[in-house]
Amino acid sequence: MREVRLVSRAAGLPRPENFEVVDVPVPEGDGVLVRNLVFHVFPGLRLLVGDGDGATPLPRLSPGDALVGAAVGEVVSAPDGASAQPGDLVSHFLGWREYSLVPEGRYVRLDGELPDPAAHLAPGVAAYSALTREAPVRPGETVLVTGAAGGVGSLAGQVARLLGAGRVVGTTGSPRKAERLVAEFGYDAVLSREEASAVEGVLKAVPDGVDVVVDNVGGEQLRAAVGAANQDARIALVGTLSSQLAPDGSGTSAPVELDLFELIRKRVGLRGVLALDPEMRGEWTRRFGEWLRAGEIAFPHTRFQGIESAPRALHELLAGGHLGSVVVAV
Ligand SMILES: NC(=O)c1ccc[n+]([C@@H]2O[C@H](COP(=O)([O-])OP(=O)(O)OC[C@H]3O[C@@H](n4cnc5c(N)ncnc54)[C@H](OP(=O)(O)O)[C@@H]3O)[C@@H](O)[C@H]2O)c1
Repeated sequence: MREVRLVSRAAGLPRPENFEVVDVPVPEGDGVLVRNLVFHVFPGLRLLVGDGDGATPLPRLSPGDALVGAAVGEVVSAPDGASAQPGDLVSHFLGWREYSLVPEGRYVRLDGELPDPAAHLAPGVAAYSALTREAPVRPGETVLVTGAAGGVGSLAGQVARLLGAGRVVGTTGSPRKAERLVAEFGYDAVLSREEASAVEGVLKAVPDGVDVVVDNVGGEQLRAAVGAANQDARIALVGTLSSQLAPDGSGTSAPVELDLFELIRKRVGLRGVLALDPEMRGEWTRRFGEWLRAGEIAFPHTRFQGIESAPRALHELLAGGHLGSVVVAV
C-alpha cells in the first residue's frame, strides 16, 4: 500500500516537496483494518507540518510520519469484539494512506445517513455549531461569513439561509469564487478581502449592520466585522485563515486588536467554536443528510483522484485554488 509522509518540516507554507508518497506494508495489529475510499485535505495541516514552535490543535508531525486527517473507508478485517464488521463504512482520522489500522474507539460506524460517503468529510459541523449554538441566527437576521469560499464558509452561507437568515454576505479573495457563491451557494453578496477589511467596506453590503458573524479569517476582517456589528450581535470565532495561511510565520498564533469599548457598548458576544462534540456532529449529520436528499444544500468540493495527487491537492488548497472542501479519492 502507499501512504503520504512528511519529508521535512516546512518553513512558511508547505510545498509538495515537503512530502513523499511511499510504498509500505499493509499495517497489522490491534484494530480494524480499513481500506480508505476518500480523505480530507484541510488547512490545519499547515500548523502540524510547519517548523514553528507555537501550540497546535493536534500533535505536530515529524519527518517520516504519515500525515493525518479525516477519512472514510470500508472495513476489510476486524478482530473479535470490534464494533464494526467487514463491509461496514467507517470514518476515522488516519487518512493520507490507502489502508489504516484503526484502534477500537477511534472510528465511527457510518449508517448511510449521507448519500455520498465523501460528504462525511464536509467541515459543516463547525458552521452548524456556530449558527445554532455559539452565534445562533434568528429568522430575518443578517449574517456575515468571512472566508466564505472555504470548506466551512461555503456551507455556512447555505446553512444560515436554511436556518432563516434574512441577508447573507460573505468574503473571499477571488472574484470568480464570489460569483459562484452568489449564483450557487446561497450568498446575497460577497465582498473582496480588501472591502471586508474595513468597516465602511462591510457596511456597503450590509447598510443596517450585521447580527451574526461566522468568522473563519480573524485579523482585519474580524475587526471590521466588530465595527459593523449591531447591538447584541453574536460573533462565532471558527478559524484564523489570515494567520493560518499567511506565507510567513508558522500560522500558530493569530493576534488582533479589538476595541473593547465598542464590544461592551454594543454588548457583542464573541465565542470560540470547537466542533468536537459527538452529539453536535450527530445532529449536524442528520440535518445535512435531510437537506442533501431534499436538494436544499450542496456539498461544494473538489475531488482529486489517487493518493499520489494528495501533496498537490494540499498545495492548491493552501494557495486558494479551490472553492469548498478538497478531498482525495484513494
Ligand atoms: N473551530 C472548529 O471547530 C473548526 C472546524 C473546521 C475548520 N476550522 C477552521 O476554520 C477555518 C476555515 O476552514 P476551511 O476548511 O473552510 O478552510 P479552507 O477551505 O481550507 O479555506 C481555504 C481558503 O482560505 C482562503 N484564504 C487563504 N489565505 C487567506 C488569507 N490570508 N486571508 C483570508 N482567507 C484566506 C482562500 O479562499 P479565498 O480565495 O476565497 O480567499 C482559500 O481558498 C480554518 O481556520 C480552519 O482551521 C475550525
